[in-house]
Amino acid sequence: MSTLVGTLNSSLGRKFVMAGTGVLLFLFVVGHLVGNLQVFGAPELINSYAHFLQSKPLMVWGARIGLLLLVTLHITTAVQLSLANKEARPVAYAGGGAYGATWQSRYMLGSGIVIAAFIVYHLAHFTALLPGINGVGDFSKLKTVLHGETVPDVYGMMIIGFQVWWVALFYLVAQALLFIHLGHGLASLFQTFGLRNHVWWPRIQGFARVASLLIFVGYALIPISIYLRVVGADYAEKKTAELKSAASIEAGTPAGKAATQ
Ligand code: HEM
Repeated sequence: MSTLVGTLNSSLGRKFVMAGTGVLLFLFVVGHLVGNLQVFGAPELINSYAHFLQSKPLMVWGARIGLLLLVTLHITTAVQLSLANKEARPVAYAGGGAYGATWQSRYMLGSGIVIAAFIVYHLAHFTALLPGINGVGDFSKLKTVLHGETVPDVYGMMIIGFQVWWVALFYLVAQALLFIHLGHGLASLFQTFGLRNHVWWPRIQGFARVASLLIFVGYALIPISIYLRVVGADYAEKKTAELKSAASIEAGTPAGKAATQ
């Protein structure tokens, strides 16, 4: 046990922790993208998927706890490795970066910090549904009927949510940073696992570039096409009106009273 802890606390052990947690987080990012791309289908498609997940609380909470552990380990190990690097090399390389470092590698810590801040905002926005931070209103009031059952309208929430320019822009900036982070992170995790040689390294770098670009394009298309009203414009109009009337009914204003008559 003490040998395991000792190994994990060594520089190589920490690199393995970074790489291992990185692989699992990457798999989550890919799976989450596939789930989210359903927003380009009919509203029932992503709403059924979200409803299926919400009806499995054990699975969802298991995944949430697992993700939280992974993110915490990934961040603390990154900070430890970065501090150890600074200690070993107190004077920075001339020109600002190590020999052979890609431009992406210099932004790993910075991009990681912004991505972590994005995840906090994202959880408040779409999971905790905090009404004060989405620029629209109370998303928990958005409901739809699926096979005779009233369920949360995740499609409506995404469509209305990304029509707000600063929300769409913030998501885009976060995706651009995720692209930078994955571009370097994916290649360097193969290196940690000992796969850097003159045959495999160019292929690994090619894979990292293509995979991070595809993930960026997939995620970025969602806020862009919704903001430009290419997707769900009519639905958003209907649902925004519903949201406004629900808010007026709660506040007891004339518009709300008229809507209930
Ligand atoms: C355009 C980009 C994205 C969209 C549209 C999106 C959409 C969503 C939605 C709708 C939910 C709530 C699902 C529900 O309650 O049923 C969610 C949850 C979540 N998203 Fe995203 N997401 C995006 C990007 C990301 C990225 C880049 C990450 C991580 C790097 C991420 C991490 C999470 C996590 C951890 C949850 C919480 C899952 C849970 O409920 O436990 N998302 N996302």
